[in-house]
Amino acid sequence: MRLAALLLLLGLLHPSLGHPRDPLFWVAALRSMQADNTGGECPAECDCPPTFPIAMYCDNRNLKKMPYIPSRMKYVYLQHNQITTVPDSAFGNATNLIWIMLHENQINTVGKKAFANLMSLERLYLNGNNMTKVPANLPRSLRDLRLSNNKIAKVPPNAFEGMNNLTILLLQNNAIQEVVGALKGLKSLILLDVSGNKLKKVPEGLPDMLHQLYLESNSIEAVPADFLDHFSNLQYIRISHNELTDKGIPPNAFNVSGLIELDLSFNKLERIPTVSTSLEHLYLQANQIKEFTLGSFCSVVDITNFSKLKVLRLDGNEINRRDVPSEASLCLRLASDIIL
Ligand SMILES: *[C@@H]1O[C@H](CO)[C@@H](O)[C@H](O)[C@H]1NC(C)=O
Ligand SMILES: *[C@@H]1O[C@H](CO)[C@@H](O)[C@H](O)[C@H]1NC(C)=O
Ligand SMILES: *[C@@H]1O[C@H](CO)[C@@H](O)[C@H](O)[C@H]1NC(C)=O
Ligand SMILES: *[C@@H]1O[C@H](CO)[C@@H](O)[C@H](O)[C@H]1NC(C)=O
Ligand SMILES: *[C@@H]1O[C@H](CO)[C@@H](O)[C@H](O)[C@H]1NC(C)=O
Repeated sequence: MRLAALLLLLGLLHPSLGHPRDPLFWVAALRSMQADNTGGECPAECDCPPTFPIAMYCDNRNLKKMPYIPSRMKYVYLQHNQITTVPDSAFGNATNLIWIMLHENQINTVGKKAFANLMSLERLYLNGNNMTKVPANLPRSLRDLRLSNNKIAKVPPNAFEGMNNLTILLLQNNAIQEVVGALKGLKSLILLDVSGNKLKKVPEGLPDMLHQLYLESNSIEAVPADFLDHFSNLQYIRISHNELTDKGIPPNAFNVSGLIELDLSFNKLERIPTVSTSLEHLYLQANQIKEFTLGSFCSVVDITNFSKLKVLRLDGNEINRRDVPSEASLCLRLASDIIL
């Protein structure tokens, strides 16, 4: 059972080995295991399991410096240490790296060329460090880039240039004031988290394939009229804990089909914005809403075209149950959960 699991792991991580039903798979798998037994260098402060010779585990060891990384490595785990510097030479000959886990360290200095030669790098976790800048020359091959919980104030327009495969970009809990240009061209981006920053405006040039957009806990006062017009997959938007007012929300800004969840709680709204009938979760608690406008959810003309809302939170506003008109039961017929 353990051997089977191991080979499955090897099979998953080496697509080139093929399928276990293919005899060549076993030849290749055995050969790769023999290679392990002959060793392969490993820095004393880390573990390099012979059964998985392309991974190096150095997490949780009070490291203050980057260890030497043998060139055969594809996966390195360096999280939860006290590393402060990633020098240009950090990855040296280990240019086949696919994952680098460096989160929860104290990195404040990254060499301009440190990551430049890692043409296969797909995951880079640098969250929970002391960086004030996005590292320069990040590989275009990245798919998952985590820079959250640092002290980044600026995102240069070319920071993520050419990253056609980037699907996850985490920038939350930094000190970013604006994002202009940097997101353009991120054709595969699905999740963007810029919450907990100092944004006054929605980032410019949001990529078309976005599925989740998290902007909560910033200082956004207004959203552009057409900022949601060009998306085909966007389903989750969170802009809670900002400074949104009615004036900052153009009439149909959130009336776009496809959205499933919209969180506008903890803002300064006095009216319920118009939303699409396809929306399922709407969070508006802790605003200053004074009126229950059924037209925000349903066309008053065609009451048969009812809203798909399931959850509507309006608690912490200036209305109560008596303000809900009786026709609401037709329009909001799926909303088992109207919280006032
Ligand atoms: C990198 O590889 C070259 C050639 O294989 C070797 O001479 C050099 O010592 C290696 N450098 C490091 C830092 O391992
Ligand atoms: C990193 O930031 C923490 C918290 O702000 C601070 O205590 C620590 O001294 C910093 N370390 C370095 C190496 O900059
Ligand atoms: C994106 O992924 C594809 C398929 O895996 C690969 O061929 C291509 O080189 C990658 N693009 C970049 C910029 O690395
Ligand atoms: C919301 O958008 C739909 C589709 O574009 C449109 O038919 C409808 O009139 C809009 N609702 C309001 C209240 O403007
Ligand atoms: C229902 O109303 C929405 C806008 O609120 C509109 O986009 C959609 O076309 C309408 N559907 C039908 C079947 O009338």
